[in-house]
Amino acid sequence: MKLGKTLLTSAILSTTILAGVQSASASGGGTGPVSPDNSSTAHTNQEQNKNVLDRNVAIAHRGASGYAPEHTFFAYDKAKNELGADYIELDLQMTKDGNLIAMHDETVDRTTGGKYHGPVKNYTTAQLKKMDVGSWFNQKNPQYANPKYAGAKIPTLDEILQRYGTNTNYYIETKSPNVYPGMEEKLLNTLSKHGMTTPDKLRNGQVVIQSFSQESLLKMKKLNPNMPLIQLTDALQLPQYSDADLNYIASYARGVGPEYHDATPAQVERLHQHGLLVHPYTANTQLAMKNLINANVDGAFSNYIDRYIQLRNQSQNKTAY
Ligand code: G3P
Ligand code: CA
Repeated sequence: MKLGKTLLTSAILSTTILAGVQSASASGGGTGPVSPDNSSTAHTNQEQNKNVLDRNVAIAHRGASGYAPEHTFFAYDKAKNELGADYIELDLQMTKDGNLIAMHDETVDRTTGGKYHGPVKNYTTAQLKKMDVGSWFNQKNPQYANPKYAGAKIPTLDEILQRYGTNTNYYIETKSPNVYPGMEEKLLNTLSKHGMTTPDKLRNGQVVIQSFSQESLLKMKKLNPNMPLIQLTDALQLPQYSDADLNYIASYARGVGPEYHDATPAQVERLHQHGLLVHPYTANTQLAMKNLINANVDGAFSNYIDRYIQLRNQSQNKTAY
């Protein structure tokens, strides 16, 4: 990412926010498990009134994607209801008919096991709904395979927000925003429809928008100056940033999401000195997780978020381990 040098004006940073309405409770929408189990949610409503971003946050990368097919209700249900993730992470793509869906790749090939081909943008929502995005996981991960994953459907953002409601924390990435003009407006409108852009939700960090695209984040900032934003950086990018670059990022973003190898203690301290949170991606080994916790990060992405939570909690009474 080449950073621009023009600072945002205070006028941009103080404009109004979008109003929200409360969402209705959800059905499964035919895209996974029948209904969510909310009996063991990680945080109570009272806790939800605190700023989520004030703690070392456990971000379930593509849901509990180490244990269940990524970006399906199976993966999100497990992350939220069983593993106690602070956030479920969503990558967004846009369909031919203009709906936002949760999918990491710009093409459908990998998560359909090669049964379908080509860009998401060439398929309508109805066409995408016919695809099985669960069977590939069973083939790739026999130790976690489950017959119920076969036939898992691609969820739309609307369905996700409806299913998980306003007591869930969402960490949402605008993927390929250059391919999908208008995705930022669509995202904000959908979040607003489900009550996730109210002043308290944004103040408490219950929704966070992340992107590798600085342009997309700056657009978000203009559309809603109160939305917490995270600037993602590619591997080896963070160490190249000057203090001026970090000052500029701090003018629009709440924090940085570096590739986890770049989140050294020195870099984390440097980002903190610029007032930026640090949420590295994607720590899947115990060593990587421990290194990040000892580096004093403010959270991390993992496919095995239960393991990160366990190490994070263990570290609370220790200075290092
Ligand atoms: O959003 C953080 C991390 O998920 C970025 O990598 O490719 O998994 O979206 P990716
Ligand atoms: Ca992501």
